[in-house]
Amino acid sequence: MANILQSNISKAADLIKSGGIVCFPTETVYGIGADVFNPTGIAKIFEIKNRPFFDPLIVHIASIEDIDKLAVDISEKALDLASKFWPGPLTIIFEKNENVPDIVTSGLSTVAVRMPKHEIPISLILESKTPIAAPSANPFGYLSPTTAQHVFDYLGDKVDMIIDGGPCSVGIESTIVKITETETFILRPGGISKEEIEKVIGKTRLPEPCKLPNAPGQLPNHYSPRTALDIVGKITEDLFTDKALFLFYKKPDKDKINPIKGKFEYLSSDGNLHEAAANIFSALHKLDKLNGKIIYAEKVSEHGLGLAINDRLIKAANKI
Ligand code: TXA
Ligand code: MG
Repeated sequence: MANILQSNISKAADLIKSGGIVCFPTETVYGIGADVFNPTGIAKIFEIKNRPFFDPLIVHIASIEDIDKLAVDISEKALDLASKFWPGPLTIIFEKNENVPDIVTSGLSTVAVRMPKHEIPISLILESKTPIAAPSANPFGYLSPTTAQHVFDYLGDKVDMIIDGGPCSVGIESTIVKITETETFILRPGGISKEEIEKVIGKTRLPEPCKLPNAPGQLPNHYSPRTALDIVGKITEDLFTDKALFLFYKKPDKDKINPIKGKFEYLSSDGNLHEAAANIFSALHKLDKLNGKIIYAEKVSEHGLGLAINDRLIKAANKI
């Protein structure tokens, strides 16, 4: 059973250097990490997560110079985005160099890279002296963890160490962009909004389904709670049945919600999308523990981080 530690970077770095598996916080969600250049360590991540080998990992770096350890043909646009948003919740797809093991990229010629804005992974990467490949620390298809306890509940008996850095401040995964010669695609909406990205490099596009190389974060079912989930425009009283649970966008009026006491969560007190993003996974984790039949979740406004929040709700609703 892994210990949850407040922080023990040098012990964690020793584990990484010897092919071990360490879970750690980032500003987005908790990751499960191994040395990117150790294929055996990486294979353990796939095994522990029950993740299909066709789903490539994101590699975390601690300084912009680290890109050269992983990638070639770095474009101006990519550098503009990196210098604006790193460290932070943005992942950029680069052509990979030959040192990056195929298992990390699922055989793709590209590699996903990001520099997290969190002291713990940055120190861990520096002390391990290697970039760290780390998907979110949940079994494949399930809700991402935003606290060390979520990670412990999912994977406590399978990993070497879990570092506790408290709840994640952004709470939703990084935005993934892929820059081609002519266009920039947002492969996954996330912690940096489309509007913010477009301010730096101009127009972006969402990919047409199946037209781009594998980006399995785009699988229609992902980020799922165990409980069924239905998205609604607004939660109304006709939905208040016995086994139903509720996820409000904004804090609901007190008098309205008496019949569903203890059976609801809300994302934000007044519609702030940053607050909503920070709460979405923890709210779904809490509701999922209540053994209801269905979660009714309100769609949030479709601008800024709202795009990423609605994307996660749609994927949570599309259960296998
Ligand atoms: O915020 C985050 O990005 C978190 C933290 C831990 O950094 N990580 C995360 O990793 O969300 P994961 O594995 O849950 O999601 C990675 C996504 C997957 O959807 C994968 O398909 C996509 O990144 N990806 C990785 N490499 C890719 C590539 N070369 N081309 C396209 N998509 C790629
Ligand atoms: Mg994930």
